[in-house]
Amino acid sequence: MSRNAEDLAALVRERAGDAPPKVGLILGSGLGHLAEAVNGVSIDYTDLPGFPHAGVSGHNPKLVIGDLEGQRVAVLGGRAHYYESGRGDAMRLPLEVLKALGAGTLLLTNAAGSFRPDIPPGDLMLIADHINFSGLNPLIGEPTDARFVPMMDAYDPALRTALLQAASDEGIALAGGVYAWYSGPSFETPAEIRAIRTLGADAVGMSTVPEVILARFLGLRCAAISTITNMAAGLSEEAISHEHTKAMAPLGAGKLERILRRFLREMPQV
Ligand code: HPA
Repeated sequence: MSRNAEDLAALVRERAGDAPPKVGLILGSGLGHLAEAVNGVSIDYTDLPGFPHAGVSGHNPKLVIGDLEGQRVAVLGGRAHYYESGRGDAMRLPLEVLKALGAGTLLLTNAAGSFRPDIPPGDLMLIADHINFSGLNPLIGEPTDARFVPMMDAYDPALRTALLQAASDEGIALAGGVYAWYSGPSFETPAEIRAIRTLGADAVGMSTVPEVILARFLGLRCAAISTITNMAAGLSEEAISHEHTKAMAPLGAGKLERILRRFLREMPQV
């Protein structure tokens, strides 16, 4: 844990109180409104020295700490992507701060393109595993042996079961699938999509994987849900664009919020 993270955690505690958040939440494109549902203290990333700029439209670069469904949560309303800076570890400091604050669990959300007709735009996918199709790793340069992070069950089985139960209790379809990380920022070609699909992926996106690697490095338990905003390149006639992603994300966002709220309500049993 870096000195900076401990210092920032102290700064956050001064503003938001000492109670440790149980769960950290990272909100993906078009899902930033969930931060507003939290009854608590909001701190702009610009007030947290070293936090990434997180300049992608559709994100809400604030750390919000407070209560959601009776659980203390810490919401990262914006994420920095590798493609913004060329740094695979762009989210390391925010995750270290969550860890320093005492969070044990990290829930990640993102927008993704689906390969599966049975998981169409507007639906959600529970990430069961990932393929790092970028060739990058956020732990490159980490000098300690802790860098050799095992990635078995990176998406925590108990958390996944609890999220599936929460979805089922809410009557919301939640299929499990494999997420492939493609660096972006250009979208994939149809040939790339055919390649990743052949390799076993069910959806593709430009985030989450480096954060999960960093979170496992820090010892956080992870779970992640994709909001499907489009069929991936070459799989439908629909044009793919960031505007389209932002316009479609709210379709799944309501369902995602219901699942997360129920999950948090039932959390003590996890
Ligand atoms: N590809 C990569 N990232 C995405 C997509 C996609 O099709 N849709 C939403 N985010």
